[in-house]
Amino acid sequence: MKLEDKIFKWFDDRFKLKELLTPIIKHPAPEYAVTNPLYCLGGIAFLCFLILVGTGVFLAMYYKPTPLEAYKSVEHIMTAVPMGSLIRSLHHWAANTMIAAVMLHMMRIYFMGAYKKPRELNWVVGVTLLLITTTFGFSGYLLPWDQLAFWATKIGTGIAGSIPILGQYISLILVGGTDIGAETMTRFFAIHVMILPITIAILLLMHFAMVRIQGISGRL
Ligand code: HEM
Repeated sequence: MKLEDKIFKWFDDRFKLKELLTPIIKHPAPEYAVTNPLYCLGGIAFLCFLILVGTGVFLAMYYKPTPLEAYKSVEHIMTAVPMGSLIRSLHHWAANTMIAAVMLHMMRIYFMGAYKKPRELNWVVGVTLLLITTTFGFSGYLLPWDQLAFWATKIGTGIAGSIPILGQYISLILVGGTDIGAETMTRFFAIHVMILPITIAILLLMHFAMVRIQGISGRL
């Protein structure tokens, strides 16, 4: 018996992996979904998310979330850390691709009417996922702490502040005071690496569970 088979058997004897995983892995996808690339868009978004988690954990090992050190630590990642520039670029491009894939996935759902009964709740979960994906982008934009990051955040928090009634509170929570500074950076970092990843993981589990329970919608 090969080593990998032995390792699998060790775990299978204890956790009944085969019994647990076979129905998930062997579940057949309908022919019309397999042959139509439009049904890949959600999967592409998820693949980007996995790349973002992997590269993000790597970046977090070198990044320092303070106004004095942030820019320098990013420079260090780009110039001195082995494969740092490649991994940061992967993080950047996966983020952009994920936003494009999520938007296109949402358009596929809309134009194919895949949001209709019984998938209304999955549409609502989807809209929340879209919001979270864009908030990921917005909170990550500040982290390099360069001119572009600073002014983009100034404009973004300004827009949030202009929301009627709740705006001033949202802006205060995001900025952590009246001006963008150290408080803002710590908050955006916590949002980017803790709050959003945990929330999106829970919502993705719900999203995928609903797709599995309800099945992929057919051609209309
Ligand atoms: C993080 C973002 C997202 C990921 C990773 C994701 C992933 C997926 C995957 C893998 C599927 C099954 C395959 C497919 O139809 O592509 C799916 C289905 C679905 N998604 Fe998403 N999705 C995301 C965001 C959204 C958004 C923004 C919406 C809509 C507002 C949405 C609504 C739906 C619905 C209604 C289905 C069921 C489609 C059907 O049965 O034909 N999702 N999603």
